[in-house]
Amino acid sequence: MSSTVDVRAAVFTGPQQPLEIQDLRISAEPGPNEVLVKLAASGVCHSDLHALDGDWETPAPLVLGHEGAGIVVAVGSEVSDLEVDDHVILSWTPSCQKCEFCVSGNPVLCQLANETAYQHVFFDGKPRLSDGEQDVKSFLAVGSFGDHAMVPASAAIKIRKDAPLAQAALVGCAVTTGIGAVINTAKVEPGSTVLVVGCGGVGLNVVQGARLAGAKQIIVADVSEEKLELGRTFGATHTVNSRKVNLVEAVRELTGGRGVDYAFEAIGLPFTIEACYEAVRRGGTAVVVGQVADGVKISIDPFVMSDQEKKLIGCNYGSTRMSIDFPKIVDLYMEGKVDLDSMVTDRIKLDDVNEAFAQMRQGKGIRSVIEY
Ligand SMILES: NC(=O)c1ccc[n+]([C@@H]2O[C@H](COP(=O)([O-])OP(=O)(O)OC[C@H]3O[C@@H](n4cnc5c(N)ncnc54)[C@H](O)[C@@H]3O)[C@@H](O)[C@H]2O)c1
Ligand SMILES: [Zn+2]
Ligand SMILES: [Zn+2]
Repeated sequence: MSSTVDVRAAVFTGPQQPLEIQDLRISAEPGPNEVLVKLAASGVCHSDLHALDGDWETPAPLVLGHEGAGIVVAVGSEVSDLEVDDHVILSWTPSCQKCEFCVSGNPVLCQLANETAYQHVFFDGKPRLSDGEQDVKSFLAVGSFGDHAMVPASAAIKIRKDAPLAQAALVGCAVTTGIGAVINTAKVEPGSTVLVVGCGGVGLNVVQGARLAGAKQIIVADVSEEKLELGRTFGATHTVNSRKVNLVEAVRELTGGRGVDYAFEAIGLPFTIEACYEAVRRGGTAVVVGQVADGVKISIDPFVMSDQEKKLIGCNYGSTRMSIDFPKIVDLYMEGKVDLDSMVTDRIKLDDVNEAFAQMRQGKGIRSVIEY
């Protein structure tokens, strides 16, 4: 019998149920193209909350969490670019490196990841964790709410060892998604006008990305004054409290009636996606970053779409190429050009993860980070 490693993890048992802290097991020997990672930290992202709330159909039992960083403790026989003790950020989209999307430089669209990791299983269609009686899945084949995780080697991206892992964990989702939405997905040009709706972990990184891209005007919208203030800290030039005023009208006013060049929705609500589309100028681009609950639809006027050549585009994971962007963002942080320190508003223990979701529901803080 092969040896196993104990994993202490927060397990999803069904929608609206608090996560249960359980002792699970995982094989100590990674498959040929896998690595075993000892987690140092995991952020708590709104996508975990979507799963927990039942917004998305999610199988149970399953270890949630997908924004993690840690240290490699075992390496599969065919893995050539990682070794024990490497520091890694986990990617919630593994790349098969063979499908047309991976080969053409779009690993976020990996065909095999879509068929496996997005169903919370590994490339062979199987889970890796067990509670002794039954198999336990790992959210997006990561499951970073556990102190160890087996991941496909392509989902463990090596970074420099002098970067703090709590901050690095956030590069595994919010930071890469937000900055990537601006730089990779929309390709915002210097001097652009930008609207960001929703100043959470993802939205504040869209703001940060817009600042890096040289946007001249960055308008942020949120319903929380605290979040709007944070928007300013990360580079916003104007704030709109969309609980108090009409968002589209406010944006028109701030742009001399023209509308913004780019609008990013970073909440996941149909009416704010529609507002983003309305708020862009003729020929402008609205980017859907926030993710809606299963079955939610939006309403867009197709005449406006053709007549005004407005674009509505989607953004998965900041259209990132993880192995290029993760180390690059970590470098930018280490050089003081990207702020990750202010993102970590709470450092918590795994046992307190349900409290972190309560905070997120109330819109408090930016990111709670579990430290193992
Ligand atoms: N596209 C992707 O690849 C990707 C990756 C990660 C997360 N996401 C999605 O992005 C969204 C945001 O995630 P997050 O972790 O930043 O969430 P978060 O909870 O940290 O932030 C959401 C923000 O939206 C604000 N908000 C809520 N309702 C609002 C309203 N009606 N009007 C204005 N502001 C409102 C909140 O005050 C909060 O500041 C989620 O839907 C998440 O699933 C998408
Ligand atoms: Zn996330
Ligand atoms: Zn692929």
